[in-house]
Amino acid sequence: EKGGYPHFMLKEIFEQPKSIKDSMRGRVNASLGHLQLGGILQYANKLTNAERIIIVACGTSWHAGLVAEYLFEDIARIPVEVEYASEFRYRNPIIREGDVVIAISQSGETADTLAAIELAKSKGAVIFGVCNVVGSSISRASHEGAYLHAGPEIGVASTKAFTAQVSVLAMMAIIVGNKKGTITESQYIALLTELETIPQKVEKALKSNDQIVEIAEQFKDAKNFLYLGRGYNFPVALEGALKLKEISYIHAEGYPAAEMKHGPIALIDAEMPVCVIAPQDNSYEKIVSNIQEVRARKGRVIAVVTEGDTHIKNMAEYTIEVPATHEALMPLLTVIPLQLLSYHIAVMRGCNVDQPRNLAKSVTVE
Ligand code: M6R
Repeated sequence: EKGGYPHFMLKEIFEQPKSIKDSMRGRVNASLGHLQLGGILQYANKLTNAERIIIVACGTSWHAGLVAEYLFEDIARIPVEVEYASEFRYRNPIIREGDVVIAISQSGETADTLAAIELAKSKGAVIFGVCNVVGSSISRASHEGAYLHAGPEIGVASTKAFTAQVSVLAMMAIIVGNKKGTITESQYIALLTELETIPQKVEKALKSNDQIVEIAEQFKDAKNFLYLGRGYNFPVALEGALKLKEISYIHAEGYPAAEMKHGPIALIDAEMPVCVIAPQDNSYEKIVSNIQEVRARKGRVIAVVTEGDTHIKNMAEYTIEVPATHEALMPLLTVIPLQLLSYHIAVMRGCNVDQPRNLAKSVTVE
């Protein structure tokens, strides 16, 4: 059942070229300029005309929500708020006529997310569910939604659900952007074309597995880890840190790279591994200076870079390459090495990666 892999987590990491493809199957066709989500029809106009989107989720799904904040603001020009479901439900949130809520949940059974939906519904909001498990409580409680079609995720650490969530949320943002005209026709086609190439690029990113085993060997005894990213890759930094802490029990924190100066820089010394997500995007120059700041304090830099980047190679102790893609879709590639790094470190530390201590696959109690 693990398909020859020692753990479900590794199987699910390696399944991502397929699960992302499945999340797009019948939905994207770049050559026809076609993009459609069958589950979002009746309320499609509500989404297109939304004055604000409120995203509710927990854990990794909340990180996918943060990526969606960049996607919807960039592509569809809709203001987005991303809320921890557990906080949202106990506030007295303001929900106005033009607001829509997107609830993201792999299992569709997370108690806080479900309660957040019920609260938003009671205030008149339209809810779009983005779930993996078909027929789950959250999918039933939503007015409309889109399934991930990623297939069952067994490992407690979420991997293929995250990439399918980002892929579905990107499709939603692109549909809205196209309808609203906030992206041009050529930008629309370029995004669809890039989306279609993502599965093969993920396949390529997975090829760094052997190199990551070597890196894991160097860092398996670390006590702490810092993850830094900017823009679309800031949520990926959070996700990388969550993956590492939940399965290897190493304390890890993710930060937007520029926040480092506002505190965490004090932690950096020769003992501190710093994983920097540094693809060649709009923030490239800025993140290069962040790497230099870490190096100046003897921090040990592992950088995730765009294929062929030689500049960062000269500065970082290790660089892991991912193929180039549209900036908005980069999280689908940059998260792959971070998943693998956490997996290998956890295995080397003798941890039970599929069922980490104290954790459940779906958190059905608050
Ligand atoms: O099923 P959900 O997506 O609602 O679950 C949310 C979180 O419990 C989940 O993502 C959790 O953080 C994972 N263990 C992360 O790997």
